[in-house]
Order: sequence, then C-alpha cells, then structure tokens
Amino acid sequence: MSQGIVSVAYIGATIMFILALGGLSQPETSRRGNYFGMFGMLLALLATIIGIVSDNYFILFAGIAIGGSIGLLVAKKVKMTQMPELVAILHSLVGLAAVLVGFANFIGHDTGLAGIDKTIHDIETYLGVLIGALTFSGSIVAFLKLSARISGKPMLLPARHWLNLALLIGAIWLGNIFVGQSALGGGSWPLVMMTIIALAFGVHMVMAIGGADMPVVISMLNSYSGWAAAATGFMLNNDLLIVVGALVGSSGAILSYIMCRAMNRKFIAVIAGGFGTSSGAPAAGVEGDAGNIIAIDGAEAADLLLNAKEVMIIPGYGMAVAQAQHTVHEITRKLREKKINVRFAIHPVAGRMPGHMNVLLAEAKVPYDIVFELDEVNDDFPEVDVSLVIGANDIVNPAAQEVPDSPIAGMPVLECWKGKTTIVLKRSMATGYAGVDNPLFYKENTRMLFGDARESLDGVLKNLD
Ligand code: TAP
Repeated sequence: MSQGIVSVAYIGATIMFILALGGLSQPETSRRGNYFGMFGMLLALLATIIGIVSDNYFILFAGIAIGGSIGLLVAKKVKMTQMPELVAILHSLVGLAAVLVGFANFIGHDTGLAGIDKTIHDIETYLGVLIGALTFSGSIVAFLKLSARISGKPMLLPARHWLNLALLIGAIWLGNIFVGQSALGGGSWPLVMMTIIALAFGVHMVMAIGGADMPVVISMLNSYSGWAAAATGFMLNNDLLIVVGALVGSSGAILSYIMCRAMNRKFIAVIAGGFGTSSGAPAAGVEGDAGNIIAIDGAEAADLLLNAKEVMIIPGYGMAVAQAQHTVHEITRKLREKKINVRFAIHPVAGRMPGHMNVLLAEAKVPYDIVFELDEVNDDFPEVDVSLVIGANDIVNPAAQEVPDSPIAGMPVLECWKGKTTIVLKRSMATGYAGVDNPLFYKENTRMLFGDARESLDGVLKNLD
C-alpha cells in the first residue's frame, strides 16, 4: 500500500475518532460515537498492518490473536460495576506499552541521528518512558483502590510535597544526563533510574488521593494515557498515534477539569493529595441522633410517591450494584401515567465512573428529557414532594456543606433534604465511597427503605397499582 493511501486512511481514522468524541459527549449520540470509534480503530489497524508493517507478521498476528481473545473474554465477563477498574487497568497497559516502546527504541536500534535531531529524539524517548511509567503504576494503584483490594483512604507520607519535589528534580537531573548534556554521559542507566522514580511517583501520587477525589484521578490517568500514546507515536514516527494520543490526552484533561469543578477542588490541590484526610468521623450531631431513623416499607414508600406531584429520583452507585435501573424505569412510567412529574437528578460523580448513571438510565430506556444535571435542578428541591435516593450516599451528604473539616467539605451535593420528604434506599447504615457518615439519614423528613435497591423497588412497584 502506498504511503499516500496510508495517509488518507489515517486522516479518515482521525476524523472518525473526532466524531466518536463528539458523539460520546451526549447520551443520545453516544452509541453512534462508539460506532465511529470502532470503525476508526479498524481503519487505523488495517492501514498500519497492510501499509506500514513489513516484517514479523507471525509475531504481529499472534499478538493480535492473544490480545484480542483476552479483550473479548474480559469484555464478556466484566460486570457493569467493574467497568471503572477495567478502565484503570487498560490505562495501565497504555503506560506499559509506552515504557516498553521507549526502551526498545533506545536499546534496540541505532537511529542514525546526530546533533540536535538525536537530542530531540532522546527527549521524546525520555518523556515517553516517564509519562508511561507513572501512568502504569498510578493506574495499577487506581485499579486496586477501585476494586477495593486496597483501602480507598489516602496514604500520606510525611513531607510528601518535598518528596514529590525531590522526585521531580531527580527526573529532570537524570534527563539531562540521559540526553548527554552532562559530564556523566548518556547511556541507559539514567533511563532505568528515571523509570524507577516515575513508577514510585505514580504509586505515591494515587495513594495520596482520598476516596471522593478518585474521579479526578481516573480522568487524569485517562489524560496521561493519551499523552503516553502520543509520546509512543513520536518514538515510532507514527502520525496517527500522535494525533489520537493528543485527542485522548486533551479530552482527559478537559474531563479532569470538569470533575474538579464538580468536586469544587483545584486540580493542583487534588494532585498534591491530602483531600479526604480528616478524621472521617461522624458529622456533627449524627452520633447523638443515631436512634432517630425512620424506616418504612415498600407500601409506605409507594404511598408517599402516589401522593406526590413532583418526584425527583437521585440514582447512585447502589443502583448500579443492584442493577435496579429497569425497575426504576417501570416505576417512572407508572408515576408519569398518573400525571406525577418525575425527574432524575444526576450528580457528576455519582457511581464510579464519569457518566455512570447516564449509561444505566440509557440502557433502561429512561427518556433523556427527564434526566438533569445537578446544576439544572439543585435549586428546585424546595418544590419537590418526594426525592427517591437510590443507593446514593456521598452525593446527597449535607456534611459537605455543614461540616467544615469533612473529607467531602465543599463538594456540591444534591440538596434533597430541602424537599418535603426524602426516601433513601440502601441496605444498611454503611457509609459511601468517601467513608463519611451521612446526617441526611437522621433528618426529620427522611425515610429509610432498607434492603437491596432492586428488591425494595420491586416492593414499591407492586404497590403502585
Ligand atoms: P456512594 O457514596 O459510594 O454510596 C453508595 C451507597 O449505595 C452506599 O452507601 C451503599 O450503602 C449503597 N448500596 C450499595 N449496594 C447497594 C444495593 N445493592 N442496594 C441498595 N443500596 C446499595 O455512591 P454515590 O452517592 O453514587 O457517590 C459516588 C462516590 O464515589 C463519590 O464519593 C465519588 O467521589 C466516588 N467515586 C466516583 C467516581 C466517578 S468518576 N463517578 C469514581 C471513583 C469514586 P449500603 O452498603 O448500606 O447498601
């Protein structure tokens, strides 16, 4: 295949990826966005395999067969609730690939470059390995935290900011040696040393970030994986990889910004770690009121809903765990038939991945026009008769506003307690992801409906006729 055809295919694939990103920004068009992405990737792979690869076909196809089979198997096996950790582990693979390509590039072959060209090439290799290594180790820790294999609580080393600074200075110093600008001469040892530092930095960075700030970490690692891919593109002289890496890198950076805004945090402050570090002790007033919980059953919850004019449904992570979205839609349908106005309020960090709730509601075919973002409905709660909180906790926790030293202090939350009645569906009094007690459960106008959300909602549904 001529170079011209490869370039045209690459431009086509780039356009497909841009359309994919555009599509994924709205629930209505996200399915189409996915198709664009899949088609773009197929085009990119075909153009690369046919047009660029000229040797080692056996290894290539064996790799595709093994990698593709593992991918298929994992995609079939993974549950919706495990998607966030799957995404984290996939990010780690992008980072690992960048490290391996960087080392292979450096050790494997003589580029024949000299002077400034060689320096630029060495900087590309160095940066690629650096970003790749910290994406790799950071994503592994994110995977372990998200899958609850290690605690989500922030681990803070003494003088951690100094440690970060020392690691950064060390990496710059080694970089100077690596590109041969120092009397110590280049060679592979500075690259190896920097890789170890970057791996340690990735672990330290993600370990230091507290539970409720994990969304920012996930989107940030997403962004890093894009830059790692772009760096790999530079090392391999592959334009498409550079462009696609830059697209992923910049869209991940935008997502990190959105997530920071949603959490009311400054990006640098999150990266430096330390949020979510205060005691996590019960919010003021909670302990004393611990007996004042009002529990209800499905029939009573149905009664409250039937007597309402305005209902706000607030889904959270528990809806995903219980796979209750279809029952939620059934209840919505029934209430709307009875001329009750039902809306959904979606918190930007509800669940465990960006857009988690939107995906579930779309899967259950809940109409998009009754699904609203936090900003759009948060002022409406005083007019709401019943808020139905389904397996959500941190995103409706008034401690974010009432307890200044709470780990979630300052995070915008859905102010359902301002409505007439709030029904909270959950299995126990356990805390949410951030590990913070929730004063909402003890408020006078809150009713607790204990049990698995799906079973509880089945109970509500059968009492709606
Ligand atoms: P959480 O605060 O984690 O609360 C979920 C609640 O669901 C828990 O309190 C749990 O209580 C309940 N639950 C679990 N399984 C259930 C089931 N089968 N039936 C009924 N209830 C069930 O969730 P949230 O309110 O959605 O907030 C999200 C949290 O995750 C935030 O802290 C956010 O920062 C963090 N986070 C978000 C993301 C993204 S990108 N969205 C990524 C990582 C972390 P019981 O155990 O008592 O049932």
